[in-house]
Amino acid sequence: MNQTKNNSYSIAQLGNAVLRLKASEVNNILTDECQQLINQMMLAVSEAGGVGIAAPQIHHSVRIFIMCSKPNPRYPDAPLMVPTAIINPEILHYSSHKEKDWEGCLSVPSMRGLVPRHTHITVRYFDQQGSVQQKELTGFIARIFQHELDHLNGLTFIDQLESTKDLISEVEWYKQFAI
Ligand code: NI
Repeated sequence: MNQTKNNSYSIAQLGNAVLRLKASEVNNILTDECQQLINQMMLAVSEAGGVGIAAPQIHHSVRIFIMCSKPNPRYPDAPLMVPTAIINPEILHYSSHKEKDWEGCLSVPSMRGLVPRHTHITVRYFDQQGSVQQKELTGFIARIFQHELDHLNGLTFIDQLESTKDLISEVEWYKQFAI
């Protein structure tokens, strides 16, 4: 009890109202406040071993998420990418094709779900320097983008399941699917 933590964030867990809000657009990316929030999110996702985190998950209801896919014990097959801040994101185009694959979430501990996502998306967002970016994303990176964008709209991966039968415990997931 009373463990001291150096960091000043906690990760909001399913049931916390902040995870159900529609997050606000960021007006000025270059303010110290915004840059510090991005840095704090980079730290939080790295410490938690996640491949993405959205600002509402650390109790800030603004339209920012981090994508930082890399292979780790939670996602052994994840591709490696430079941690990237995504601000005021939009999906401009979705492939009609969807695929189901496993997702977890730092706000939904101990569970994994088989979630259908569009396999190809065209996205537009602002980066940490405030420049607009437009990209085509596929596969696991497109999946992370859709998962994190959902967080900005008050949704978690559980809301996207086709069936509650596609939800399993992380203990079973490790037994059945981890290397
Ligand atoms: Ni999540």
